[in-house]
Amino acid sequence: MNINFIKRFVFTSIGRKAVMAATGLMLGGFMLFHLAENLLLFKGEAAYNTWVDLLLSNPAIPLLELGLAAVFLTHIFFGAWVQIEDWLNAPRGYEARKWQGGRTIGSATMLYTAILILAYLIYHMLTFRFVDHSMGFYQMVTSAFRNGLFTAIYIGGAVALVIHLTHGLQSAFQTLGVNHPKYTPFIKTGGWVVALLMVGFAMISLYYLLELDLKCADSVYQVTIQ
Ligand code: HEM
Repeated sequence: MNINFIKRFVFTSIGRKAVMAATGLMLGGFMLFHLAENLLLFKGEAAYNTWVDLLLSNPAIPLLELGLAAVFLTHIFFGAWVQIEDWLNAPRGYEARKWQGGRTIGSATMLYTAILILAYLIYHMLTFRFVDHSMGFYQMVTSAFRNGLFTAIYIGGAVALVIHLTHGLQSAFQTLGVNHPKYTPFIKTGGWVVALLMVGFAMISLYYLLELDLKCADSVYQVTIQ
């Protein structure tokens, strides 16, 4: 595949959508991996910190991080391009009619959930990635979630992610031509299952907030009965 073919490909509407689909599926894979590693929080401090330290000590990590950033940026760039094109080509009154004709909440709100996820991701990077990690990753994450506002932002981000993926995943397969009467229902169900798994991110943050509240309630109770 030479560079001229790639250039010509991304200058077609279907080419741009294919790039969005491929990068979207890669990000979906990353989200599943990231959720699995963060579920280790429930195994305790030693398990979580050992995993993150092991991961970060891998010499390939800087390269993988660059690759991940490139995939995110490509998805965002092409998403914006496709959206602007849609606006320019949309017939009059399209925005008002967009909720009609079998559209789901996921498909009709892709732009808004994308903006929310981007805002959430920037906040996430500023609070967990580009900060001092000397207290240990477990301490950093669990103490952050003990703040109600912080957890509310994380729950909002997870909800936007769920809604975005309910449409995004199945649509990505369709764009890439994986469309067959026999397999499409499985792809749709699979897309929903993966999307709903993202509720896990909200559950993690809520767990540490409520854990604190339960401890607070417990200590208030202890003080009261003494
Ligand atoms: C319970 C929710 C989450 C927790 C506890 C969590 C935890 C973390 C931590 C501790 C890091 C820093 C690792 C490092 O410094 O290398 C990180 C990085 C990252 N997280 Fe999350 N995360 C959560 C949800 C999410 C979500 C929903 C997304 C995407 C929308 C996301 C995307 C990322 C990305 C892209 C990175 C940077 C990866 C890297 O540079 O290695 N995270 N996360």
